[in-house]
Amino acid sequence: MTSDDQISISSLAHERAKKVMPGGNTRSSVYEAPFPLYLKSGKGAFVTDVDGNSYLDFQNNFTALIHGYDHAEVNSALIGQVGRGLSFANPTESEIDLAEILCDRVPFFEQMRFTNTGSEAVMMAIKAARAITKRPKIAKCEGAYHGNYDYVETSFDPIPADWQTGSAEAKAYNDGTPASVLAEVVVIPFNDVVGTERVLERHKQTLACVVIDPLPSRAGLVPVDPEYLSFLREFTARHGILLISDEVLSFRLSYRGAISTYGIEPDLCAFGKIVGGGLPIGAVAGRAETMQVFDPSRGKPPVAQAGTFTANPLSMVAGAAAMRALTEVEVERLNALGARLRCELNRVLAASDIRGNVTGAGSLFCVFISDREVKDYASAYHAWQQRQLLSRLMSLCRDEGVLLSRIGLGALSTPMTETEITMLAVQFGRALARLAEKTPSAAVA
Ligand SMILES: Cc1ncc(COP(=O)(O)O)c(C=O)c1O
Repeated sequence: MTSDDQISISSLAHERAKKVMPGGNTRSSVYEAPFPLYLKSGKGAFVTDVDGNSYLDFQNNFTALIHGYDHAEVNSALIGQVGRGLSFANPTESEIDLAEILCDRVPFFEQMRFTNTGSEAVMMAIKAARAITKRPKIAKCEGAYHGNYDYVETSFDPIPADWQTGSAEAKAYNDGTPASVLAEVVVIPFNDVVGTERVLERHKQTLACVVIDPLPSRAGLVPVDPEYLSFLREFTARHGILLISDEVLSFRLSYRGAISTYGIEPDLCAFGKIVGGGLPIGAVAGRAETMQVFDPSRGKPPVAQAGTFTANPLSMVAGAAAMRALTEVEVERLNALGARLRCELNRVLAASDIRGNVTGAGSLFCVFISDREVKDYASAYHAWQQRQLLSRLMSLCRDEGVLLSRIGLGALSTPMTETEITMLAVQFGRALARLAEKTPSAAVA
């Protein structure tokens, strides 16, 4: 396998990249020092890098590729569409197909709109909430990631001094965030009914929406508590505030999305990733009455949405093929494998000299290196403090032939079976042993 100090084609590619892109990078989340692996191809559950090394891939492009690589039906849908046209300034029937498939699956999806990314989907849902309620503010959980939109990227990485005061003030994530943006966001503590109620009570007259991710990756990849979700639903409904479920990551948790498993209906759902079959996508869906806010048939709608590549037929046909292949049985099989995987990795961790745990739900998981159980934003934050160690562990996993994202996040894909879980457990165990050897202090992380 590639090691950092060998001259590899990946390292040469990174040298080329640095000349034309800042840090050689166009996506901060895949930045890696001294250089990332440059990938060449993928097949099933495996990818191959430009140096010819093969890896079992649990990254699946940050969970988007639910069918892994080179899926026959997705490929054939794409090849067919390539011959018919890549994009048009008119709608195509492909968008109706995908919308019908998704509306048939999720009980409260009566109508939807497509976007190009999950970030855009969250942005459109927030714009809709503001237009409907005629209120400016949004509430989001501290530490939750909802994409790149200015308002939701605030308080993405709050430090203890920020959250321990119990203040609802949003903190800038990127330099240059205007004070006016911060003023329109209030921050609530994930899974804490009392703390959240205190904040929402104060701002209820000016809140357009509460955005909640049922399985927030940065707050520990721990599921939202049913009581917390019920409280949010009841409070928002009582005060005319919209509840937006951000399922960009977690839509794969069940055949009917994430929040449906709680028996709770949000006003809008923003989702994406897996529903594009591996191509760029996002979507906002809800009851027809709520979605009317986007309807241009009676003149300028309250929220006009555009986008040159919105609902482009390539994403639509790939998405439809991927969703048709993702049957309810297949979702359940992956979820059972996910439970096995978390159990196996926790067993391997417990038997190692490294303290940590593996969280997640369904077919998603996240590795934490920490001496405490990760169960909320605060415990996840302490684990993030061990980022260097986690990053080293992920590099060692890569050297053993398995890829997880740098933040320890992983996702199953449908080509995977028990065999891949066993392989991962073995590779992960070896990587842990090497980490303990190289970093004796890690044992008391
Ligand atoms: C919960 C959540 N919301 C929004 C986004 C943004 O989606 P995208 O990267 O497609 O813009 C992500 C991406 O990982 C996400 O996990």
